[in-house]
Amino acid sequence: MTPSDVKATLSFSDGSPSMDLPLYKGSIGPDVIDIRKLYAQTGKFTYDPGFLSTASCNSTITYIDGDKGELLYRGYPIEQLAVQCDYLEVCYLLLNGELPNESQKAEFVSRVTNHTMVNEQMQFFLRGFRRDAHPMAVMTGLVGAMSAFYHDSTDINNPEHREIAAIRLIAKMPTLVAMAYKYTVGQPYVYPKNDLSYAGNFMRMMFATPCEEYKPNDVLVRAMDRIFTLHADHEQNASTSTVRLCGSSGTNPFAAIAAGVACLWGPAHGGANEACLNMLYDIQKQGGVARIGDFIKQVKDKNSNVKLMGFGHRVYKNYDPRAKLMRETCHEVLGELGLQNDPLFKLAMELEKIALEDEYFVARKLYPNVDFYSGIVQRAIGIPVPLFTAIFALARTVGWIAQLNEMISDPEYKIGRPRQLFVGATARDVKPIGQR
Ligand code: SDX
Repeated sequence: MTPSDVKATLSFSDGSPSMDLPLYKGSIGPDVIDIRKLYAQTGKFTYDPGFLSTASCNSTITYIDGDKGELLYRGYPIEQLAVQCDYLEVCYLLLNGELPNESQKAEFVSRVTNHTMVNEQMQFFLRGFRRDAHPMAVMTGLVGAMSAFYHDSTDINNPEHREIAAIRLIAKMPTLVAMAYKYTVGQPYVYPKNDLSYAGNFMRMMFATPCEEYKPNDVLVRAMDRIFTLHADHEQNASTSTVRLCGSSGTNPFAAIAAGVACLWGPAHGGANEACLNMLYDIQKQGGVARIGDFIKQVKDKNSNVKLMGFGHRVYKNYDPRAKLMRETCHEVLGELGLQNDPLFKLAMELEKIALEDEYFVARKLYPNVDFYSGIVQRAIGIPVPLFTAIFALARTVGWIAQLNEMISDPEYKIGRPRQLFVGATARDVKPIGQR
């Protein structure tokens, strides 16, 4: 980061000493005001619940321009990566900073492929869950449990440990997600097959049974791979910030990623794709397109607590570029499956059209985000709704790891420990219970 020649001066109307605050410039995006010495020099904290104006770190991984609706992974536009690369190339890019050449890609794919099996003991964790357990509850447990199997790679400060932990996590997430799914449907687990692509292997572990050969549909496999790429990383979102904060204590990579899985589950974050599809189902059940007007009225009524799931974003105040790519994938997949007239897809497009013309959404710059169409594509592919967020977690694992590695390898990193504005009871004496 480059010191700016502009300074910020903080002064107080009560005559307290003012303070010069240095500014830093990034390569693109907003400058930052360095407040690291603020408390030491003024005895005051900044106050920013939800971190709307706070940069928690400097990073070289992902850049989002919310006004333009631009998303770059290591400088490459998501529109180009989603079309010209596959997910494992994007994983290599996020982890190493550059796209792999042929031999680098072959070596990386081989490393990942040869770590896709999980320890046979892992299946016994699943037996502890009810068959109807939510897949994200299962995944939170399984990912955390991985740390119990790899004592050879839990020192987050050791670069070799971080490298093998990254490979193991990227390689095993599809196997674990497929196991979480098979457990809920009472079917036997399907072992990985090393002659399949990453996404093809996942689809086979999800949908194959011992009763017949599974023939992957290339269009659906390509769509699954693109869904992984679109969800791979996204700057300092809630789950990535969780992984960074968790990892800053020096805990092992598996525990830090498990914390990210738990955070992603929330409906305001990764759980929105599941919530969005359930919202579309509800509208469909209550009358479909004819019901949209009443639904939008409900959303605009603050007391209803109803949100248009899959819409709005803390950073994007324009169309989320991933939503556009996801809508294209929708067309491809539904076309391939002869579902062009899928009523839910038509309902989603009509809902989007009406919302984008409605002053409430326009005034608040609310546009479709990555979750608006992803559920429709996944449902068409055959993914059950409760598994959508687990697939988001599968895809985001590489982003979490890349961000965690970037923090740990920054010599300046410290354990994250925010402060607070205390508004509670001041010191007082305990009274004996008879006097309370
Ligand atoms: C993801 O951070 C990331 O990068 C996340 C993510 C990633 O890849 O990691 O992009 C993935 O989580 C995408 C977002 C998925 N969530 C949803 O689709 C849930 C619905 N969206 C909202 O909950 C909301 O838009 C958030 C949580 C996404 C963002 O909320 P903010 O930035 O805190 O904005 P806000 O709640 O302050 O909203 C501003 C206004 C409010 O109205 P007013 O009080 O100003 O009158 O817009 C309204 C909100 O009520 N609003 C919505 C709305 N989203 C915001 N109103 C109706 N429907 C919505 N979806």
